Amino acid sequence: MCGIVGYVGHRPALDVVLGGLRRMEYRGYDSAGVAVLDGAGALTVERKAGRLANLEAELDKVGRESITGTAGMGHTRWATHGAPIDRNSHPHRDASQRVAVVHNGIIENFASLRAELEADGVEMASDTDSETAAHLVARAYTDGDTKGDLAASVAAVCRRLEGAFTLVVTHADQPDTIVAARRSSPLVVGVGEGEHFVASDVAAFIEHTREAVELGQDQLVVITREGYEVTDFHGDAAQAKPFTVDWDLSAAEKGGHEYFMLKEIEEQPEALANTLRGHFESGRIILDEQRISDQDLRDVDKVFVVACGSAYHSGLVAKYAIEHWTRLPVEVELASEFRYRDPVLDRDTLVVAVSQSGETADTLEAVRHAREQKARVLAVCNTNGAQIPRESDAVLYTHAGPEIGVASTKAFLAQIAANYLVGLALAQARGTKYPDEVAREFAELEAMPAAVQKVLSTVDQVRDLGRRIADSKAVLFLGRHVGFPVALEGALKLKELAYMHAEGFAAGELKHGPIALIEDGLPVVVVMPSPKGRAVLHSKLVSNISEIQARGARTIVIAEEGDETVRPFADELIEVPAVPTLLQPLVSTVPLQVLAAEIARTRGYDVDKPRNLAKSVTVE
Ligand code: G6P
Repeated sequence: MCGIVGYVGHRPALDVVLGGLRRMEYRGYDSAGVAVLDGAGALTVERKAGRLANLEAELDKVGRESITGTAGMGHTRWATHGAPIDRNSHPHRDASQRVAVVHNGIIENFASLRAELEADGVEMASDTDSETAAHLVARAYTDGDTKGDLAASVAAVCRRLEGAFTLVVTHADQPDTIVAARRSSPLVVGVGEGEHFVASDVAAFIEHTREAVELGQDQLVVITREGYEVTDFHGDAAQAKPFTVDWDLSAAEKGGHEYFMLKEIEEQPEALANTLRGHFESGRIILDEQRISDQDLRDVDKVFVVACGSAYHSGLVAKYAIEHWTRLPVEVELASEFRYRDPVLDRDTLVVAVSQSGETADTLEAVRHAREQKARVLAVCNTNGAQIPRESDAVLYTHAGPEIGVASTKAFLAQIAANYLVGLALAQARGTKYPDEVAREFAELEAMPAAVQKVLSTVDQVRDLGRRIADSKAVLFLGRHVGFPVALEGALKLKELAYMHAEGFAAGELKHGPIALIEDGLPVVVVMPSPKGRAVLHSKLVSNISEIQARGARTIVIAEEGDETVRPFADELIEVPAVPTLLQPLVSTVPLQVLAAEIARTRGYDVDKPRNLAKSVTVE
């Protein structure tokens, strides 16, 4: 939610900043803006509503060559306060136009700060909460103890701000310095040779350096050409954690694919294999970071999975496996609902927080609430060192690589695999599975990358189907058991990408209401269980399909290869490889991702950047 980049070095800052924004546009695309310091006291700001392309067109008009300087910053916005129009676009400046600020997050006490500034005669130029920070920094820099000290001025302002924020600040008087600060919003430093970067995520500078530093909560960093210095908001030196990014530029590029999402769908076998790698050693499942003792794991008497969006669906899938393997009750809950209903938590509760980005505000707040109630928190996350894993007692990283398409694909499959590892780790600790059973389950998981690869080799049929049903008014999705969350995920993908009315149902519920929606020609996707694995479920679902077919639905059936019983009921049959029941979501989700992407393409939509959405949602 909002992408931020700052740069001080030896290259033309405008190019570096625009390059960074291009890689972070998935974080928000309501507007984009840049500020460049020319070293001789001039601060140029350009900003434009809409996608980055609009800003680039504006820069062409102005003449890019006229914007010189080797320090600058940029922002790509997902609007919160103030409509996505030019004047609400970042960077924001103070009245003297010497200070420029970009901001990610929400300043919760902005109304009182704004009133204070207005009482002082400051005229606001935008409707945003962010602009207040620019005026406050300018004021601190001109007067009082912090006069002439940009870092101290920013720190003083941060101490007054409530809410979540990452700020990057420049002052025309300090053309070789950029100051950035964070609270509950992401910020990493990129360390190059004679150049330094700050950004919301490493993708912004991966082209230039893989050496990075993650900033902790309430930390501030000053970057110059020569180095970086981290302090807390009181100016005291603070420790930040250096790390080396383990992927390179090619992972953040489309690599010949029309869209990132299509590339990411194809990367799923690798994402699964990388997520599983190294987690079964000497006959035992191992997590990445474990600050919970084995005894505490044995004492767990209840599990909650909290997450949002696709990550929530990965939890719904995992519930079946974790309960089956551990005999522990598992509740799966939307993170945004969790803490507001006073869930029953204590030190024997394990809360599994699943988040690709590790910065989703709803999930982060759920984690905080759980820890306040003394529950143990285990994070499943795709982003090294993000806030959610930092605040958790144990971590299992998914290694899906950077996911740029806003709609989750490879991260979702990796989350399912990681959640299963959590289930096996619990079963192992609690002794509800013998070591050889754990080994067998792990071996079955290890066979999944090949199964997913097989699905990928047959998706042309799904693309063709997508083109044929692209003008439908709505699509329904049905499933039972683990097929039910797959149906929910299929519907979510279609809503996100194709802006189509789509709903997922438990097939058994159909007769209790949704069947009224069935009309002639309505596409209904049915996720079939294996006829061998769950014969009862299979036959019940066959009955459900015939009920909807009798009412005119166009049935699109995802079934195991060789499942002949279902063929007569399928107007369209999509076959996936036979795999154990609990692992079926890993194969049956793939055609649904492809279907949604193809329908969106056919309708002319941007598959990577669906309207109104952002990849990482750092507001509640
Ligand atoms: C956003 C994205 C979804 C994602 C959800 C949770 O809404 O558009 O694709 O599933 O956030 O994100 P997280 O990073 O916590 O997994």
